[in-house]
Amino acid sequence: MNGNLIIKNAAQVVTCRGFTAKKGEEMSQLGIIEDGGVLIMDGKIAAVGASEEVAREIDPDITVIDAAGKAVLPGFVDSHTHFIFGGYRHDEFAWRLRGDSYMDIMNRGGGIANSVGATRKASLETLVTDGARRLDSMLSFGVTTVEGKSGYGLDRDTELKQLEAMACLNKSHVLDIAPTFLGAHAIPDGFKGKEDAFIDHVMEMLPEIKEKGLAEFCDIFCEKNVFSVDQSRRLLSRAKDLGFGAKIHADEIVQLGGAELAAELGAVSADHLLQASEQGILDLAHSGTVATLLPGTAFSLKEAYARGRNMIDQGCAVALATDFNPGSCFSNSIPLIFGLACLYMKLSPEEALTALTINGAAAIGRADTVGSIDVGKQGDLVILEYPSYRFIPYHLGVNTVETVIKNGRIAFS
Ligand code: NIG
Ligand code: FE
Repeated sequence: MNGNLIIKNAAQVVTCRGFTAKKGEEMSQLGIIEDGGVLIMDGKIAAVGASEEVAREIDPDITVIDAAGKAVLPGFVDSHTHFIFGGYRHDEFAWRLRGDSYMDIMNRGGGIANSVGATRKASLETLVTDGARRLDSMLSFGVTTVEGKSGYGLDRDTELKQLEAMACLNKSHVLDIAPTFLGAHAIPDGFKGKEDAFIDHVMEMLPEIKEKGLAEFCDIFCEKNVFSVDQSRRLLSRAKDLGFGAKIHADEIVQLGGAELAAELGAVSADHLLQASEQGILDLAHSGTVATLLPGTAFSLKEAYARGRNMIDQGCAVALATDFNPGSCFSNSIPLIFGLACLYMKLSPEEALTALTINGAAAIGRADTVGSIDVGKQGDLVILEYPSYRFIPYHLGVNTVETVIKNGRIAFS
């Protein structure tokens, strides 16, 4: 599985150096090495520095990549996706174009409930096969670690089926998957008006998921007409007691106080945050919680963007992710996310790159093993066909990734 490999003569090696989330101004510091090289031994980064030093004593058997004229970056970490699902919602997309809102469609039984119906019917094999295709596409965009959520089951068996699909893919596919249990993604039929009872039901699923090692995180859709702040606190506190990391879909459509709750609970991340309050942003800045922004979703839903510039200026650690899912954002395009963050959230290319690498890793508790080119971390790298990471937002929406290296082996080229 693990490989030995050396990259030499890179126009720039963008290390994104670090073992924790970068906050505020630190997000602009990329640790760039010009005319750089990287040595990977047994799947792990063994050296990074000036090309001539790294390449000084090359073992004749090692794979050598000459990256002249190319930029070398850490593999991207897509820290918020819902990539395991049955069915598609192309009709709902067309309805939204004619003026229906995401919540209108959800309130009349479409939206997440539509995907729940299709996912309940899908076999484990179908979820695995479709999931593998989606992971292949992510890899082609330079993603080497991805978070994936359940949440299209809302019952024990289907939630487990989704998590089991991710466990299978974690073994069979080259990408690393961080699985999240999102049993509280919507209120299923039979529990309408009985949200507290549904939270109890979801809480009953937690010990089995923990025992089977099927999820690292527990997430909830904290939103008006979905789950309240109190219900979210109740579920996530229990999950934390059991050893799960907490994540929250927070302040996406209505300002409820999800950001404040995330900081209070010491959540690993608070995600979306389009409507986060000033206080919520300050609370996040003073906490260890990563603010994960999903500009593809705001773009796809034609919503106002989260205030990324403001969050960084206030001292938050901001991550960017695709939110790839069959409804609100059916896109896993990293260059789209990168470009939107720069153009509409006012992030610099440096901040956007940090947000998709080391801060993405921190948003899934993996900043110690992935997200930067540091000695000892996994040998997960991206080589661009251009000499600078600045081509990513500039070559708008186009994939500039030429080669992807995973654990020291070429996984895509
Ligand atoms: O992150 N906001 C809630 N959950 C997803 C959307 C899921 C769906 O529409 O299927 C999100 O946008
Ligand atoms: Fe989401």
